[in-house]
Amino acid sequence: MTDQPKKTFTLTNDQTGESIKLPVEEGTMGPATIDIRTLYAQTGHFTLDPSFTATGSCKSRITYIDGEEGVLLHRGYSIEELTEKSNALEVAYLLLYGELPSKEEMKEFDHNITTHTLVHEQVHHFFRGFRRDAHPMAIMVAVVGALAAFYHDSLDIWDVRQREISAHRLIAKIPTIAAMTYKYSQGQPFVYPKNDLGYAENFLHMCFSLPVEDYKVSPVLAEAMDRIMILHADHEQNASTSTVRIAGSSQANPFTCISSGIASLWGPAHGGANQAVLEMLAEIGTKDRIPEFIARAKDKEDPFRLMGFGHRVYKNIDPRATVLKDSCHDVLKEMGVESDPTFELAMELERIALTDPYFIDRKLFPNVDFYSGIILRAMGFPTEMFTVLFAVSRTVGWISQWKEMIEEPSLRIGRPRQLYTGETERKYVGIGKR
Ligand code: ACO
Repeated sequence: MTDQPKKTFTLTNDQTGESIKLPVEEGTMGPATIDIRTLYAQTGHFTLDPSFTATGSCKSRITYIDGEEGVLLHRGYSIEELTEKSNALEVAYLLLYGELPSKEEMKEFDHNITTHTLVHEQVHHFFRGFRRDAHPMAIMVAVVGALAAFYHDSLDIWDVRQREISAHRLIAKIPTIAAMTYKYSQGQPFVYPKNDLGYAENFLHMCFSLPVEDYKVSPVLAEAMDRIMILHADHEQNASTSTVRIAGSSQANPFTCISSGIASLWGPAHGGANQAVLEMLAEIGTKDRIPEFIARAKDKEDPFRLMGFGHRVYKNIDPRATVLKDSCHDVLKEMGVESDPTFELAMELERIALTDPYFIDRKLFPNVDFYSGIILRAMGFPTEMFTVLFAVSRTVGWISQWKEMIEEPSLRIGRPRQLYTGETERKYVGIGKR
């Protein structure tokens, strides 16, 4: 068999007329890439792409998104099929190891995760240093980063088994830490995990049980939480995942890397958007005020944006938002809310925005955050916890992406370049002469 001729891309300097050929690399799906690694050596130029709108930072086999078509695949399986047929723990296995588990593999993985949900007792004392009114994401950044101080025996990132133990620890303990964060903010005692409960069910138990009263986790809510976990599990090279990768590229330990991902997720342009959506809906208040806020979102002089709308990659409906809108109905019904004014307001806002030329022309559709906040609030979570729940779900994706990067033989520290636009070299002038 003869080798296919290698594809190239020719780049010409219009000033000198010199041309270079750059290799084109194709993946299994999606746009091909131009490999520019030799560009500086060949031309003395860097590329400039400040928010990475056209730059691939890595090769990955984990998640595929077609933003134009509204497609999201994990290891080749569609998000619609996974939310319908799988569960959060199985998806965690899939993301981490690349294949769906056999019965035996699933049993072992389930056992590993379930029996590592406890955190070191000293972590309980660590919590007590925080103010009760601290934002739970501030506590999450600190406590998850601090896990490195508690689990010294799994910090060697070059040891395959230690990497696996750290991944299992993070997936197992993050719901426990998140639930502790919630309990702490409520002034309630921490609730220990229970090994006979499923992953999502156990999380709800740790959040809502009290020592004085048994809390029976509703199967509808457990299923909705499981779905939320699957929907948020991974989303290829978004801001927080790229943060985890760049932190990990310096060979930092996985606990610290995940902590940096949590910090990045906190921002309202990323994971903080679901909190911002509910705050925005509260500010809008009633349906008759929607046109006023739509007008503000369109006004370039006004910093207001329609939260939960728009996405860097999706230029079509975010498939996760469609699944969540359905879950909204189930959860509200289970909680005995026949008609929720916030949900009604959100649906009306979506309807109006989707018929407005401003949003149509810019391909701005509801994203995953638009409906998730309504479900989480109906479940009983305060808005400050929404981003924490996102972090709990995304930990699986972060650690899978981190593991993939560390296992890449060509791993090098991530180090972007820049276009310098500051002063050229000048002489220092003493303070008396300025
Ligand atoms: N409301 C009003 N206008 C918007 C919105 C919005 N939510 N989002 C984008 N636009 C407009 C921009 O003003 C811009 O208009 P212009 O071309 O006339 O200048 C155009 O649409 C393109 O927007 P960009 O900001 O260039 O898109 P970018 O890819 O940089 O931003 C982002 C994506 C951050 C998600 C943006 O859409 C936004 O701020 N949305 C609201 C916050 C949000 O919901 N974030 C959650 C994202 S999903 C996630 O992280 C899980």
